Amino acid sequence: MNHITMNDFFCGGGGFGLAANQAGIEVVGAYDWDKYAVKMYNHNVNKHAQQMDITKMTWRDVKKADIWSFGFPCTDLTKARMDERKKLEGDGSKMFYEVMRLLDEVIQNVPENIPDALLVENVYELHEVMDILKDEFYKRSYYIKPALYNSKWWGVPQSRERWYVTGLRNTEKFFPIVQEQKESTVKMKHFLEKDVAEKYFYTDEKYSYTPIASERKENELWQVGVLEGGKGWLDYMKRVYSPESIIPTVHTCQGGHRQFKIFDPETKKVRKGTPREYARAQGFPEDYEIIVSDSQAYKVFGNAVSVPLATAHLRNIKNFLLSL
Ligand SMILES: C[S@@+](CC[C@H](N)C(=O)[O-])C[C@H]1O[C@@H](n2cnc3c(N)ncnc32)[C@H](O)[C@@H]1O
Repeated sequence: MNHITMNDFFCGGGGFGLAANQAGIEVVGAYDWDKYAVKMYNHNVNKHAQQMDITKMTWRDVKKADIWSFGFPCTDLTKARMDERKKLEGDGSKMFYEVMRLLDEVIQNVPENIPDALLVENVYELHEVMDILKDEFYKRSYYIKPALYNSKWWGVPQSRERWYVTGLRNTEKFFPIVQEQKESTVKMKHFLEKDVAEKYFYTDEKYSYTPIASERKENELWQVGVLEGGKGWLDYMKRVYSPESIIPTVHTCQGGHRQFKIFDPETKKVRKGTPREYARAQGFPEDYEIIVSDSQAYKVFGNAVSVPLATAHLRNIKNFLLSL
């Protein structure tokens, strides 16, 4: 074996796809049901993304690949959810079992196509169901190793804690989990756009900004004020950060005004992050073109894996598989 291939389930706009490209892994199949995410993926990553609902897929739709990556929906795991969290039984997060079903179908029908490695990426709360993942993987002959990372140690100015759970087939050997790059210090100010359009600023007189006295700590969030005036805003939506610090976890921002907010040092005004700044905070390259609306773009970038971290992890999987 000298060449590693990957299927990218729930591929979104291509966080894992870009990481695979950078790690020298060939993506052969990519699947997502969101047409805007698929459009962004095919425009920017490779031409393999297909708009498909995983519940309708069978083993015949799945390409032969060495790695299956699947950052399945976190909607029923995340504590950001206000109502009852149904975890792996919820409508979104139960998509985990759809990948297990496809894997069973491949094992039964085309055993020569069984992947050597599985890679799940998901939110911190995944630890609550880690035993289930372990059992589900083990039943299919994969040994798992979970690793918890924070993107802020990987060259992007964002605090984002995420699990990367790797399953390796028929081997208990494992590669060393990459050490976090703790010496790296990043600040949002180096990732901001210049000449930001008026629509991102909170200049309307209905909004009022109150600075708060707080201390800056290296590599930590630094809230410098509160923005009031938004109708029905939750607390986190009112927080305003300094560009001298990192920003909170970016997410899909569905519902308006949920973007991170900063005090813009140039204009001395408060504004929300732009889609390009979301892309940068996730480590997407500058030549990644945004060809969908702002709200679709926030969704794509908020959903994605942080590219530098995913690249490092995928490179380790690749080197491990090549060493077998
Ligand atoms: C957390 S995102 C994955 C992002 C991706 N890993 C990346 O790095 O860009 C989850 C994705 O699952 C997709 N999805 C949710 N339900 C699906 C289904 N039934 N079939 C296919 N895709 C689905 C969503 O559209 C979303 O893009």
